[in-house]
This record gives sequence, structure tokens and C-alpha cells, in this order.
Amino acid sequence: MIKVNGNYLKLPGSYLFSTIAKRVSEYKAANPDRQVISLGIGDVTQPLSPSVISSLHEAVDEMGKRETFRGYAPDLGYDFLRKAIAKTDYKERGCDIAEDEVFVSDGAKSDSGNIQEIFDAGCTIAVCDPVYPVYVDSNVMAGRTGTYDAKTERWSNVIYMPCTAENDFVPEFPKETPDIIYICSPNNPTGTAMDRASLQKWVDYANEHGSVIIYDAAYEAYISEESVPHSIYEMEGARTCAIEIRSFSKNAGFTGVRLGFTVVPKDLKDSDGVALHALWARRHGTKFNGAPYIQQRAGAAVYSPEGRAETKALVSYYMENAKVIKDGLKDAGYTVYGGVNAPYIWLATPEGMKSWDFFDRLLEGANVVGTPGSGFGPSGEGYFRLTAFGTHENTAEAIRRIRSL
Ligand code: MLT
Repeated sequence: MIKVNGNYLKLPGSYLFSTIAKRVSEYKAANPDRQVISLGIGDVTQPLSPSVISSLHEAVDEMGKRETFRGYAPDLGYDFLRKAIAKTDYKERGCDIAEDEVFVSDGAKSDSGNIQEIFDAGCTIAVCDPVYPVYVDSNVMAGRTGTYDAKTERWSNVIYMPCTAENDFVPEFPKETPDIIYICSPNNPTGTAMDRASLQKWVDYANEHGSVIIYDAAYEAYISEESVPHSIYEMEGARTCAIEIRSFSKNAGFTGVRLGFTVVPKDLKDSDGVALHALWARRHGTKFNGAPYIQQRAGAAVYSPEGRAETKALVSYYMENAKVIKDGLKDAGYTVYGGVNAPYIWLATPEGMKSWDFFDRLLEGANVVGTPGSGFGPSGEGYFRLTAFGTHENTAEAIRRIRSL
């Protein structure tokens, strides 16, 4: 008789965004005349930019000709893309990252869920709270998180580092030393970002304690303040303690195209001197056949001069929404955070309402979908996330409706 991986059975409920999607489609089915606006999942709404589209067309045409047809992509990524990434995202920012330290993938969600596989099952993890649910769920699946307490909504073997208005959304060093530390900056869900000084302290901490930082920089393109680093490798010593994950979804609108990458520096080693780079390469080789050529060509277009200008324009478009949401809600008396270096606005629910109650109130009273803060962890209770990835029209309308609640 087969037996399933029992760790999966420990997961409470379905994945956060699947739960929300289900509730929204039930609501829509019961209320077909209502125009529901989604500011829930961070999915983009603007079309792919012209240089991306023309690269996609060219690549498709190449695939249709015998001389330029390509089969399996190199499992770690095409050189043309790895080079463009190393040069633009790292060397131009003064970061010492080589192209063969860049692993191209089908997206940051997969990488942030899969990266834990290269660590021992006994490693302890620390997460910011609230947290992007993938980090915790993927470690639950790996059997690393202990038991779940439904009352406190905490796993016994996970170190939660509250990130709240009281600590300016910067995690404090935990009492116990974690082996793996997840940091997402600019942050999903709070929309806040760590400055250089704070991140340098975490890099120093990780090097002193022999921990690894898994740094999710998926929202890097949204940074507007000088004091916020674009990469953890801007910090001294990060090559020996940090893995960085990036996405094309949020900057270039690739949520439906799928492309991302992870950087694993060769200097990053475990306590026995084993290089994590070699392990991640081994994992890619065994479990991944490379992101498709067509997508990688589209990714390379993002790094062309035209592509870079188009990305800037896309980011500005969404950040105008962030301002509309932030200003509109502030004006209406809400306490709001984020929205300056990230496309997320994190608001305190009115009168300390439970996050899911506020979700219902917004859905039923304003026909607007957001994301309940408690879905991101215990410290998210009493908060709510709105995304700036909508259209200008829908965003303005959603805020108008929320204000008239
Ligand atoms: C979110 O809404 O948190 C993100 O879109 C989820 C993701 O990128 O996987």
C-alpha cells in the first residue's frame, strides 16, 4: 500500500491565494450582477512591453526554422541571459556576482519553494512575520517545521520574527540561532523595505552565526529610495552567507510568461565546506530542463536599453496606483504602510477588525478583493494587503468604493 508524504497532511487549509480565489468565485457566482475589482493577488494587468513582444515573436520564428530551432535549454540558463543579468543587476551595482552564479528558472515562486531542498531536514528556519506563505509551506512539506498550533497559528520549529509598525517592519535578531533566514525586501506583504544599514547587520549576523539568508528580491524594481539596497550583494560579506531570488513577473509583467533566477555565490558553503552552488546546480540538472528559449529571449529583451525604459514605465504606472491607494486611504482615516518601495499597501483594519472579517466586508460592501493580513502569519492579524497591480481605472474605483463604505 502506498503512503503519502504525511507532511502535506499537516498543512492547514489550502494555499492562501487559492482560498481567496475560491471565495471570490463563489461570491461572483452568487452575485453575477456585481463588478468585483481584484486588488488581491499581486498579478499584473498591463500588457507585455513592445521589446519583449518582438523578442517573443523572433524567438518563436527561430523555433520554426531548421537552422535556428532549439531543443532542451541549458539547465542553468542560456549564457546570453545569465551574462545580461550578471552585468546589469549585479556588476553595474558594484556587486561581485559572476554569470555562472546565476541560475535561470521558471520563476521566483518555484525557486523560493524549492531552495530548501538543498538543506538538511534538521535545519531550523526563521521567517519574518507576516511572511510570503511559500517559505513556510515548502518547509512544512519537507518536514522541517514541527507541529502546528491552530490557536497561535504557529509551527513549533519555526522562528517567527515579528515585523510590525513598532519595529519599523525590520526583524530583530531572534533568541535562538536559525540555520536558514528568509528575508523578503522590498517586502511582500507589508510593502516596506530594509535599508542598507539594517541589511548589513543581518549579513554580519548570518556570517557570525553560520546561517544562510535566503533573500527574496522579487520587488527590487520598485525601490525608489536611495537608502534601500537593490541586492543583498551590495552588503559586505554577503557572498559567504546569502542566496538571492529574483523574478521577471513583477518588473516586466511575466506572471503568465514565467521566468526568474536565483543567485548562489560559489563562496557560500555549509559547515563541512560543501558549496551550495554545486548542490543547486545538481538539483537543476536532475529536476529541471531549463526555462524555455522563448521565455529567456523575452527575459534578455528586458535588459536591452528599450526594455529597461519600458520596465521603468511599467513600474511607474503601478506606483501611481500605490500612491492613489495610499493617499486615498490615509485621507479616509486609515493607517497605511508600504507603497513607496513596493507595489503593496499594508493597512491596519478599522477598529481592530479581524483580517478575514474585513475581507468579507470589502468583498460584500465594496465588491473589492484584498488579502487578509492573517493569511501571511500571526502578526498579520488586524492588517490587510492591497496590491497596486490593478489598472488605474479599477484602482481609483476600488478606493472610491472603500471610502464610501
Ligand atoms: C502575491 O500576491 O503575494 C504574489 O503574487 C504571489 C506570488 O508572486 O506568487
